[in-house]
Amino acid sequence: MAEIRGLFAENSQAKTPLAYVDTYGCQQNEADSETIRGMLDEMGYEFTADEFAADLIVINTCAIRENAENRVLGNVGALSHTKKAKPSQIIAFCGCLAAVPETVEKIRRSYQQVDLVFAPNLLWMFPELLCRVLTEKGRVFLTDGGDGAVAEGLPVKRDGTVKAWFPIMYGCDNFCSYCIVPHVRGRERSRDSAIIVDEARRLVADGYKDITLLGQNVNSYGVGLDEDINFAGLLRRACEIDGQFLVRFMTSHPKDASVELFRVMAESERAARQIHLPFQSGSDRILSVMNRGYTHEDYMAKLTQAREFMPDIAITSDVIVGFPGETEADFEDTLRLIEKARFDGLFTFIYSRRPGTPAADMEDTVTSEEKHRRFDRLIELQNSISDEQHGKHIGKTMTVLVDGESGDARYPLRARTNGGRLVHLNGGLELVGSFVEAKITHCNSWSLFAEAV
Ligand code: 5AD
Ligand code: SF4
Repeated sequence: MAEIRGLFAENSQAKTPLAYVDTYGCQQNEADSETIRGMLDEMGYEFTADEFAADLIVINTCAIRENAENRVLGNVGALSHTKKAKPSQIIAFCGCLAAVPETVEKIRRSYQQVDLVFAPNLLWMFPELLCRVLTEKGRVFLTDGGDGAVAEGLPVKRDGTVKAWFPIMYGCDNFCSYCIVPHVRGRERSRDSAIIVDEARRLVADGYKDITLLGQNVNSYGVGLDEDINFAGLLRRACEIDGQFLVRFMTSHPKDASVELFRVMAESERAARQIHLPFQSGSDRILSVMNRGYTHEDYMAKLTQAREFMPDIAITSDVIVGFPGETEADFEDTLRLIEKARFDGLFTFIYSRRPGTPAADMEDTVTSEEKHRRFDRLIELQNSISDEQHGKHIGKTMTVLVDGESGDARYPLRARTNGGRLVHLNGGLELVGSFVEAKITHCNSWSLFAEAV
């Protein structure tokens, strides 16, 4: 980073270099982009939202489904125009797609405008790789390796001042048969708990009010560390930090969500009453082929346990329709689970074939039309449940955290309930960053509307 800063300083005529960072996909990618911005900041870059003005464009990509990939590649394709207008522009391609061999090959052959490709496990090498591009003028590809590394001490430039994404571990060892994540983000490894608690303390001191601990499967936090700690223990320590703030976490794997975790959550007011617990399918047969490690009944038992400890907990989930070989009966098991679970929110996905995963080789007999029909039925069912769950809040006064402006004149504030529900709030802009009492007036399937009391 110092070397690049030096390169820019040598050329006193040069304007301050501008970087544009474009992020796709999940919160882990958002967090990685905050590290990329932190590193760029130290290298002397300033930031722009104008692709044509940028000296450096970083595309932080997502590989989870084919449509995410298509969107990314479409946008990278369009960057041939910005590069033509500004031939000195450097384009970097990183994130999960940068670790998919087929995609990397495509970039190498057909996307000549891309100068630098590096896999998500090699994020800490970004300054060194960029330095090579700046000084050696060739293309640099580093798409393999760094599997076991946990890089500490990297600078982070966070987007917000109220909510903070906070990775506590990297990678995934679960190998769900449809999922590309373990193949691109490598083996599961946890950060040292003392470093995490220290950083959390600093976030609270800096005024952050809503901290989300991130991992592909936070419930297996601690495995492989020398210290004797699990996720419940880490959460307890985070909740012991003094101050008015909330801690959330995502994502939890149902097979590892423990009674101990629910107890720790219930014991602290700082633990948000929210859990995102993806179930993926309600059919035991499909769950087994997915390699999820639990049954329909096991999953429902977890929900019951969580609600025994915290009756007001908001539970959200992910589900996939159209997994290879999913029959109508399998799908009905999924509907049955949704009917019983009464989720506060559900993220629904149509199965997407990902190269290199075991499911990619399974015979897929369900037609695309049928998958879409199932998808629509699922959305319809969940929408009616979401409406009902939201409706329960109407007339209540709740504490919400105002985390930003909405851009809507009638409800100028954006806020979240303790359970993570989006609230459009009527109140003054000075409330941003504080917990306020809000009276819920009405709702739709996605959010609540409220007046500050
Ligand atoms: N196709 C469709 N959805 C997927 N997910 C992960 N892999 C796939 C895939 N190949 C979904 C899962 C996961 C969420 C982040 O994305 O539901 O929980
Ligand atoms: Fe993918 Fe399963 Fe790991 Fe989640 S737990 S990242 S769905 S392999």
